[in-house]
Amino acid sequence: MVAVDPKQRMGRKMKGIILAGGSGSRLHPLTIGMSKQMIPVFDKPMIYYPLSVLMLSGISEVLIISTPVDLPNFERLLGDGAALGCSFRYAEQPEPKGVAQAFTIGESFIGSDKVALILGDNLFYGSGFGSWIRRNTDPDGAVIFAAWVSAPERYGVVELDCQGKAISIEEKPVKPKSNYAIPGLYFYDNQVVEIARNIKPSARGEREISAINNEYLDRGSLTVKVFNRGIAWLDTGTFASLSEASTFVRVIEERQGLKIGCIEEVAYYMNYIDQPTLLELAERYSNSGYGDYLRNVAHWPRITDN
Ligand code: TTP
Repeated sequence: MVAVDPKQRMGRKMKGIILAGGSGSRLHPLTIGMSKQMIPVFDKPMIYYPLSVLMLSGISEVLIISTPVDLPNFERLLGDGAALGCSFRYAEQPEPKGVAQAFTIGESFIGSDKVALILGDNLFYGSGFGSWIRRNTDPDGAVIFAAWVSAPERYGVVELDCQGKAISIEEKPVKPKSNYAIPGLYFYDNQVVEIARNIKPSARGEREISAINNEYLDRGSLTVKVFNRGIAWLDTGTFASLSEASTFVRVIEERQGLKIGCIEEVAYYMNYIDQPTLLELAERYSNSGYGDYLRNVAHWPRITDN
């Protein structure tokens, strides 16, 4: 068990938002009775994966945004975060009017801090991913990512020059200018609040995250970091991608004996909680293998990671 040196987290005040609303229409009828982000991806609710990414980034204050109907279920699942040494708050998005609304809905939560946004249906996994993203938690401007994909037209697409600088960003372009899709994980300085307030809805009536990223690009303060091949980025918005994500998690977890997206393990790894607290959490799941796993984690030798 490798643990992060708590000094690494000090002096960086960044908050996090998980956007977990939407209509999930590509998963109907699965998402008629429940939120997409509550659906299991192998052995955990989907939202555990993006939540664990924010926690791994060193972020412990998180706002969860969802629909008025689904929000109480997320509160029941995750509570106020204190058990994980974190603080979780909740806010409604009455209608899915675009990803960029996260920053106007979350304005008072963000206050004068920097903020990371992650989409509730995005899953990331890769060697060194945690320490890599921890380097972006104090941005001047915006830090977004680029991942090479075979079907970029489904995403925001960034065109890069040979130095890796962004030339253009387009949302779901019919003719993509590159194969670099922008994954649903973004780090911003506090300007994002004012930018989000001023962007206009797109032709499809949504306040697009690409409009925010384009504004940072125009201001000359957008950094794009390209994922290497070792980082897996999966989204879970269709039947096929949901099933693939479950299989992916199952194969890695069973082969390695280590879980992906286990929020209690991440809280312990990040030193948000101590060993007795992790053991108490394990008791909550005494009837499922999840509790056994947490008990094992609590007894692994710890090595400090810088
Ligand atoms: P999408 O997959 O683009 O939209 P969706 O979840 O409504 O699904 P579908 O296309 O099948 O109807 O959304 C990506 C993520 O962002 C997902 O986790 C839901 C979230 N989201 C919101 O919470 N509010 C929004 O206004 C939008 C556009 C997305």
